[in-house]
Amino acid sequence: MGKKSGKTRYQELIKIISDHDYNYHVLDQPIISDFEYDKLFSELLKLEEENPRWVCPESPSQRVGARPLEAFKKIKHRTPMLSLQNSYSPEDILAFDERVKKILGGGSKLEYFCEPKFDGLAVELVYEDGVFSRAITRGDGQVGEDITENVKTMKSIPLKLRKPSKGIFEVRGEILIFKKDFAELNETQQENGLATFANPRNAAAGSVRQLNSKITASRPLRIFCYAPGITESEKFKSQAEFRKTAEEHGLPVSPHIEICKSAQAAVDYYHKIQTMRHELPYDIDGVVIKVNSRALQDELGFIARSPRWANAAKFPPEQATTTIEDIQVQVGRTGALTPVAIMKPVRVGGVQITHATLHNQDEIDRKDVRIGDTVVVQRAGDVIPEVVSPVKEKRPKNSKPYVISKKCPVCNSKASKNEGEVVLRCTNESCPAILKESLVHFVSRKAMNMDKVGEKLVYQLINEKLIATRADFYRLTKKQLIDLERKAEKSAQNIIDSIESSKEPSLARFIYSLGIRFVGEQTARDLATHFGQLEQLITANEEELLECEGIGPKVAASVYAAFRNSFMKKEISNLLKLGVKPLEIKKSAGPQKLDGMNIVVTGTLPAGRDEIKELITSLGGKSSGSVSKKTSYLLAGESAGSKLEKARELNIPILDWDAFQKLISN
Ligand code: IVH
Repeated sequence: MGKKSGKTRYQELIKIISDHDYNYHVLDQPIISDFEYDKLFSELLKLEEENPRWVCPESPSQRVGARPLEAFKKIKHRTPMLSLQNSYSPEDILAFDERVKKILGGGSKLEYFCEPKFDGLAVELVYEDGVFSRAITRGDGQVGEDITENVKTMKSIPLKLRKPSKGIFEVRGEILIFKKDFAELNETQQENGLATFANPRNAAAGSVRQLNSKITASRPLRIFCYAPGITESEKFKSQAEFRKTAEEHGLPVSPHIEICKSAQAAVDYYHKIQTMRHELPYDIDGVVIKVNSRALQDELGFIARSPRWANAAKFPPEQATTTIEDIQVQVGRTGALTPVAIMKPVRVGGVQITHATLHNQDEIDRKDVRIGDTVVVQRAGDVIPEVVSPVKEKRPKNSKPYVISKKCPVCNSKASKNEGEVVLRCTNESCPAILKESLVHFVSRKAMNMDKVGEKLVYQLINEKLIATRADFYRLTKKQLIDLERKAEKSAQNIIDSIESSKEPSLARFIYSLGIRFVGEQTARDLATHFGQLEQLITANEEELLECEGIGPKVAASVYAAFRNSFMKKEISNLLKLGVKPLEIKKSAGPQKLDGMNIVVTGTLPAGRDEIKELITSLGGKSSGSVSKKTSYLLAGESAGSKLEKARELNIPILDWDAFQKLISN
């Protein structure tokens, strides 16, 4: 290939990959497989390696790779990022409308552009001649921090605007994390022994303010753009026109906007969004009502730091006050000590709450929460109860800052922090609390799935000294269970049956059930598929573990150590002796039935969803949670809902149970 055509291909690749990023991350409609995407990306990287001088700022390769920063640079906004006047009720919206009309006088055709008020972190993106040049936090509105390297890692943000643009183009928006991504992120944080975030907004802010952009790259950040800054070549007559241009440039904008022709229509919009608030995939805390016409905006001008043409109508907070009666420290399966506030019961947003996690000492110090405090509580991310802050005026005189004891509350052993972690952990391997939670994990639905053995029964069995290890479940007799307080013969038999029927788990389940640190469901599945047999996995050295896709050095070290731990070794050998037999994965030498296929499973089917997913993985396929153009098939059972609709829309072939059986057997 000659130099010239090589360069043409390079530029073409930048365009093609950016288009795929846009389809995937902005439109949510990927049109090629991961495999094809990776192939294009490798081709791009190879050309850049051979021709380092070609590399340009809008190349997708430039999203990650910058070295960690020492500190963020301060940057002054070309025009200040303003705040909004808040209002808290429909009456306030009407009053805002009155003020606007009074200034404008009669005669002007007034329209309001309404959109949700996103609960994230405000940023400004700056493009120069259409190329992304920097991103700045709002800061104090005048001066913000340079977060360019971090924002570059967000694939929903174009490195080059999709339409021609000259000079400076600034756009403002809110970076946030979707509720479901937030839950997953916290799960991963926990599995990796890192601090969890209190709510999606904190998680988004924490992710954006990372000195190492590689960490930011791993966080599920999204953005909604809602306002222009300086725009040299684009002029907008209205907020709606700005939104249209931003959308055409490939910038994500809200789909829930409405143009309201009267104050009453804006109030209706406020109520409508308030009722759908909990169904939205991200947190909002109100709606923003803006005068649509920019000419009228100019006429209205500003007071102090807020425009007279806009108003933030906030939803009434789902908060309440109560008192903290105690702070108790719980010990988790991994030994993590978690302080929990025990509160006088109080209703918040229709739900009674009594407990709220205080996460760790750093969180307690930051909020200065103490026993006896009157506190404001809320449901964060709409689900997890959270202590917002203490009401210091009501603090009892003799109160003292709360410090978590450096001793395990259950076994009294020393608790310490691992390097780089915020949480304290009990260092006693055979701590009864760790054991207890490990046994609860062992029987749980996604592990050995003993459906008649719940948390309460496990606790009871431990207290009665009937079990102390995983293997002990398989030594239980019906008589022992009947002798347990008020256990009827029938229910004792059900428990025995449920234990008995757990004896042939898939290999993935068995691995997961052992509760090895950093080995979640997916990692367990990866290990099972790679090694096929328990024996192979147990005897693998770290190098061999690293050969398994998805396993990094940290996980490899943890797995290696787990299988050399004498307690674990004895536990596994006892389990096998007692008849537990993890199903081996037969590895065919040649290609497998579902190689390269992505099958989404939905609806009620003759087998459990987890089982089916394992089957798909064991046959070389993948099973993701949502339907996209990358989906090969949708396996749909009874009462399949939105996924079925989406698959039909995208023309994805749909399989019923029989067709799926045929697919895997022929
Ligand atoms: S428009 C002149 N639209 O609210 C101000 N702001 O309290 C133009 N915010 O700092 C802002 N969602 O971070 C606008 N749809 C939306 C918004 C929004 C959230 C934030 C923004 C601003 C804060 C003001």
